[in-house]
Amino acid sequence: MIPLSAAEIAEITGATPGPDSAGVDMSAVVTGPVVVDSRQARPGSLFAALPGTRADGHDFASRAVAAGAAVVLASRPPGVPALIVPDVEAALAALARAVVDRAGGLTIAAVTGSAGKTTTKDLTAQLIESLGPTVAPRDSYNNEIGHPLTVLRVTEQTRYLIAEMSARGAGHITALCEISPPLLGAVLCVGHAHAGEFGSIDEVAKAKAELPAALPPDGAAVLNADDQRVLAMAQYTAARVVTFGRSPRADVRATDVVLDEAGRPGFTLRTEAGSAPVRLRLHGEHNVANALATAALAGQLGMDVTAIAAGLSAATARSRWRMEVTQRPDGVTVVNDAYNASPEAMRAALSAVAAMARGRRAFAVLGHMAELGAQAEELHEQAGRQAARAGLAGLIVVGEQASPMLAGARADRSWRGELLQVPDAAAAVAVVSERVRPGDTVLVKASRAANLERVALALTGEVPL
Ligand SMILES: Nc1ncnc2c1ncn2[C@@H]1O[C@H](COP(=O)(O)OP(=O)(O)OP(=O)(O)O)[C@@H](O)[C@H]1O
Ligand SMILES: [Mg+2]
Repeated sequence: MIPLSAAEIAEITGATPGPDSAGVDMSAVVTGPVVVDSRQARPGSLFAALPGTRADGHDFASRAVAAGAAVVLASRPPGVPALIVPDVEAALAALARAVVDRAGGLTIAAVTGSAGKTTTKDLTAQLIESLGPTVAPRDSYNNEIGHPLTVLRVTEQTRYLIAEMSARGAGHITALCEISPPLLGAVLCVGHAHAGEFGSIDEVAKAKAELPAALPPDGAAVLNADDQRVLAMAQYTAARVVTFGRSPRADVRATDVVLDEAGRPGFTLRTEAGSAPVRLRLHGEHNVANALATAALAGQLGMDVTAIAAGLSAATARSRWRMEVTQRPDGVTVVNDAYNASPEAMRAALSAVAAMARGRRAFAVLGHMAELGAQAEELHEQAGRQAARAGLAGLIVVGEQASPMLAGARADRSWRGELLQVPDAAAAVAVVSERVRPGDTVLVKASRAANLERVALALTGEVPL
């Protein structure tokens, strides 16, 4: 973090002066990291006490201080000297903005979309790191808490900030853009993820359009030419528009897409400035779109097409449980895509596994997709039909909420495999273990809430169930 004294932090956050904040050493300097978990506190840290769902940060402030935290930020006296603010979340946002304002020569690129944000942010960070010191979120730090925590890792040396921005409602992305005004913004796709909370997919599109709308005239909006709802966002931006996709009209596009035996895409990257071959180390054709968005962002930051293609071909999956492929010693392949699921991601993963199996047997262990609202049943049925078309040897549906997938698979005339419903992860591991043979592939996928990574980790032997 760019160092700030307690006095500066008090001013930026509007901490209440007087008895509430009594005892705080106003000359103490915060150098980072800013943490919300007292176990991560170190000398020079700022500990922000947030009211969590399971635990209240205020109860851990003394531990953070014992670990060396220089300043505590809280919304009520937490038993140790603290700067008291009305709203700790808002205070974090204000601090993050102050750090951006103090950072000279910082270029900010943001990524949003219903699926692929973390993958694209990880790819982009790996390319941009070759241009200069880069800060990018850990995992999926993409909301009102994770985003400021990411921004607060910016130092005087940082040249690039790659941000992941998510929205669960109108105004969320605008608020994230106010914390760290991006010069570049990429919108990947508009899908059904969180459509339940938004009310409809058009509302999702409106929320994602807040990113291009926030860009300045000298910036660039990187938009998916293959997604009409994303392409239509060109009308809401003052920035120049750079499109990516498979469409021949896209500015940054892929041709000659092929998948290798492990389902990893290779393609020719084509831009106005030239072409170069790319072989991704990520699995699944959907990653072509993520790679193209990355290429467009990197191109806007001055990388040439050869360097972009080389960077994409060298980049690895930094965040876990997204199409994470493990080859077991007995020849069974486990695809852990259990980080999250939406209808679009489900379709992408099923087609990736069909490509990887190449006529050999594939099984899918699928859990429910959360937050789909009124369309949930229909979208689960659709996923079942896609599972049928993927030519699976077996579909193992986990939990009651996912059961419409069974009906969907059964209703599809192409279904040839075995259909099973199991109550939980342990039962899923048991039925898969009884069935798999060398050469088989097993996909594991569900929404975060289902925690189905336990199935994949048990199947690979990484963590016993
Ligand atoms: N371009 C894409 N199109 C469809 N599905 C995708 C795409 N990219 C990734 N996915 C799927 O979505 C899952 C999540 O990918 P990723 O973590 O990159 O997305 P995200 O947008 O960051 O998700 P979250 O909203 O959970 O943060 C992957 O496991 C993959 O199955
Ligand atoms: Mg993410």
